[in-house]
Amino acid sequence: MSHPGSPTAFEALVDVYDAARPRYPAALYDALPDLSGRVLELGAGTGIATRELAQRAGFLVSTDLGPKMLGRLHELSPDVPVAVCRSEALPFADGSFDVVCGAQMWHWVDRAVAIPEVVRVLRPGGVLALWWNEVDADGLPWWDAQQDRLEAGNPRYRRGYRAYDYGAELAPHVRDVQTWSTSWQRELDWPTYEQWLRSKSYVQALDDVEASVAAERASLAEAFPDGRIVEPFRVSLWKATT
Ligand SMILES: C[S@@+](CC[C@H](N)C(=O)[O-])C[C@H]1O[C@@H](n2cnc3c(N)ncnc32)[C@H](O)[C@@H]1O
Repeated sequence: MSHPGSPTAFEALVDVYDAARPRYPAALYDALPDLSGRVLELGAGTGIATRELAQRAGFLVSTDLGPKMLGRLHELSPDVPVAVCRSEALPFADGSFDVVCGAQMWHWVDRAVAIPEVVRVLRPGGVLALWWNEVDADGLPWWDAQQDRLEAGNPRYRRGYRAYDYGAELAPHVRDVQTWSTSWQRELDWPTYEQWLRSKSYVQALDDVEASVAAERASLAEAFPDGRIVEPFRVSLWKATT
């Protein structure tokens, strides 16, 4: 599965990313494995999930390959230890963690390398927990039209590019894989939606970002005349036990 953006694109997007990315619903955190022990977070970005994990984890370390993303995380969560590193080469000893978490990030990694690396740093019986928010709006005219425009503007972008059976890929390396998901939605105004659009690596990869943003603005103004954009999501979680 190729990715339609660049993994380092987020480094220039720290402000819009942290302001406008969807959060994860409380039900997701309730569905995570027991976090009372040692927890490692991969691809932590600006710390959207970190801020919730820190309240629940016994001991949390957060990592990311991007120093600017991780710098924002450190500003907002100064008590959480951080390490700039790739998930494919973790600077931790074998069996160091009870749980490894990754929010909206596993599709970026070279999983052939990262899977054995994560299994290495987990203790036997430890859990890798990976989750993603996906806009769950297929069939809604504003969403379908937006996806048509994005696919036309970025030949590497395909709607549903994150739809992938991560469980089947993990299964040969672990004892058990479980999945969980739930629906939720958020309501946001155009300025926040615009930041959310601009925080997407595949939007930044378009030839004409400004024309794309203008097209979305017109389309959403028509779909949501009161200015309150309703965005439905599905959050999906994979839990792999070593
Ligand atoms: C979509 S963001 C998710 C950030 C955060 N987890 C969240 O939920 O908002 C993906 C993050 O993965 C990081 N990333 C991409 N490839 C990575 C890799 N190979 N190893 C570690 N982090 C990576 C990026 O720098 C970025 O911060």
